[in-house]
Amino acid sequence: MDKVSRIGATNVVWHAHRVSKEERAERAGQKPCVLWFTGLSGSGKSTLADALDQALFAEGRQTYVLDGDNVRHGLNRDLGFTDADREENIRRIGEVAKLFVNAGMIVLTAFISPFRSDRRMVRALLDEGEFIEIYVRAPLEVCEERDPKGLYKRARAGEIKNFTGLDSPYETPVKPEIIVDTADVRLEESVAAIREALAKRGIL
Ligand code: ADX
Repeated sequence: MDKVSRIGATNVVWHAHRVSKEERAERAGQKPCVLWFTGLSGSGKSTLADALDQALFAEGRQTYVLDGDNVRHGLNRDLGFTDADREENIRRIGEVAKLFVNAGMIVLTAFISPFRSDRRMVRALLDEGEFIEIYVRAPLEVCEERDPKGLYKRARAGEIKNFTGLDSPYETPVKPEIIVDTADVRLEESVAAIREALAKRGIL
């Protein structure tokens, strides 16, 4: 590929490496992809991604989880929760996820990723069929009731600004590949349902 980047840096030329993405996928014996979990804070994204990761890893697949709370401790520690910072958060995660896919991995991501345009941007970074959007659906009241980190309580008390679902929007996915309702479905059943949907798509 003879691509010259004109963004940020000049005189940067794309280097075509000789081990191809396809060869790496073949060696890994799987169809690399991004399983993109999106939903409100407390909807169960991380729990689901973790459980599915554990199941896939146990059967010998090469997987990795990228999780909002963890990535924000490192790579994205300079970002907050304004719309612009969330956009940059998702852009970086999208690029990292793409690198993982190129390396042959199945990558599971758990980010609120509240904006449709940002999720669309990540989808566009990947090849057809590599981006599987999984909408982790739970009513705001349920997430707020769970409040696993006590953040809704603090946001209601005015201690946290721009909190998703309260004073910052969450744009529900329009055509996600998979929807999981965590308010009334048990974790094991949800994991089984996702696995079945992935099998139908030829990923598992
Ligand atoms: S995203 O909107 O940019 O995709 P991300 O998934 O990385 O968000 O981080 C969300 C996590 O950060 C939440 O699960 C919560 O624990 C914490 N958090 C802290 N402040 C906020 C906020 N204002 N809105 C949403 N989540 C917040």
